[in-house]
Amino acid sequence: MTPPIPDTLISRLTSAGAVTFFTGAGVSAESGVPTFRGTDGIWAKFKPEELANLSAFMKNPELVWEWYRARKTIIATVRPNAGHFALAAMEALFPGCTLITQNIDNLHRRAGSRHILELHGNIERNYCLKCGAPYGDEDLPQTEGVPRCSRAGCAGLIRPDVVWFGEMLPEDEWDAAVRASAAADVFFSVGTSGIVYPAASLPLTAKQQGAFLVEINPEPTSLTRSVDLFLQGLSGEILPAIVERVKEKRIVG
Ligand code: OAD
Repeated sequence: MTPPIPDTLISRLTSAGAVTFFTGAGVSAESGVPTFRGTDGIWAKFKPEELANLSAFMKNPELVWEWYRARKTIIATVRPNAGHFALAAMEALFPGCTLITQNIDNLHRRAGSRHILELHGNIERNYCLKCGAPYGDEDLPQTEGVPRCSRAGCAGLIRPDVVWFGEMLPEDEWDAAVRASAAADVFFSVGTSGIVYPAASLPLTAKQQGAFLVEINPEPTSLTRSVDLFLQGLSGEILPAIVERVKEKRIVG
């Protein structure tokens, strides 16, 4: 059931200069992309340390590539859901809107969002570990085994352009995400368990700098006790309801 959207939230939104959304795997759950930590989550079946870090890749690049190819296939076959489309609509409603995502699935862009800060990379991109050359999925030199760089004299291992455990976040994205969090009048944390740092610090940065902090999630998380408003439910239902209410208010008000 979609919880009621309080008038105070809609008023704050319609008078806000900067609105920032921070998303996690939960926004893609209704598209059929498994989350990481639910009972059916990715990390219930696979150990992150076996797949999502550089030393695992160097030890067994075949296994890591097999796993990422399987995830690429799932992601290529799913579609953005109503929550992704609502976030794209928010960009049109609020000129000072920033979308920060931990997701690597590219569904925000496919739904039409343009100003996206991808903190953990993007599964549709890849790069050569040796020379840094970028490769889109369509440019990967081979469809099985470990792809290698096709630049003259390189032949380095190609890896997915995603952030693995123990790696730094992309600096420009991270700096911009901190700025957008600190500047937010209203900050939404949507579909994230909020336990992977440094990303999980952003909602608290926003709150410390005076943002009204809203969380959308079917389950309480470690952030819930710090938020100003907890909207308990599915992002694919709550986000479109907020868009509708903001549009109504703009027409009436
Ligand atoms: P998690 O799997 O940790 O959390 C997903 C959250 O989404 C949970 O709190 C769920 O309750 C919530 N959720 C499930 N369905 C939802 C729905 N329909 N609407 C709204 N919320 C829903 O995923 P993340 O928080 O994204 O990092 O995980 C953070 C990072 O940990 C990921 O980016 C990834 C992972 O390891 C890297 O790969 C570096």
